[in-house]
Amino acid sequence: MRAAVLTISDRASRGDYEDKTGPQVIRRLQQQGWDVEKSVILPDDQDGIQVALIECCDQHKFDLVLTAGGTGFSARDCAPEATLSVVERLAPGLAEAMRAGSMKKTPHAMLSRAVAGIRGTTLIVNLPGSPRAAIENLDFILPALPHAVKILQGDPQAEREHRWKPPAHKI
Ligand code: MTE
Repeated sequence: MRAAVLTISDRASRGDYEDKTGPQVIRRLQQQGWDVEKSVILPDDQDGIQVALIECCDQHKFDLVLTAGGTGFSARDCAPEATLSVVERLAPGLAEAMRAGSMKKTPHAMLSRAVAGIRGTTLIVNLPGSPRAAIENLDFILPALPHAVKILQGDPQAEREHRWKPPAHKI
């Protein structure tokens, strides 16, 4: 399972402070057996984020791209807009699970506008920007991601296992 992590922060991209979120997200993915092949820090610029996302999906064909930061209400926050403009299908359950789980930790969780979606065979998920918030959110979805990747890759076994069948007594 191959992943990329894009930290989105004007200040971290300028070097005003050290990005602590990206390395922590990478470590958590690696602990779960993911190969993190690319990590970059980008400014909160929608066009630039879109270009990076498209490259990750179409060129590198990563299974998973996590963005961290830029999901809030600040004028420059545009990670969800960049993501929505490049995905072909939405995966709202992942963002719902992150917000629902996070609401039990802090009511500020409702201020994350994070989205998730699919482009080709790549799943893109937005995380919030602080290290703690990013890891808390990631932990809610991590257990479902290997199965998601299998289905995206067209693993027939994964699809068969979960295909709905009518109850036996109705056949
Ligand atoms: N989710 C969790 N689990 N824990 C948190 O501390 N912080 C929230 C929210 N989600 C938080 C969280 C806050 S304060 C904000 S403003 C939003 O994520 C958006 O964060 P971002 O602008 O860094 O992307």
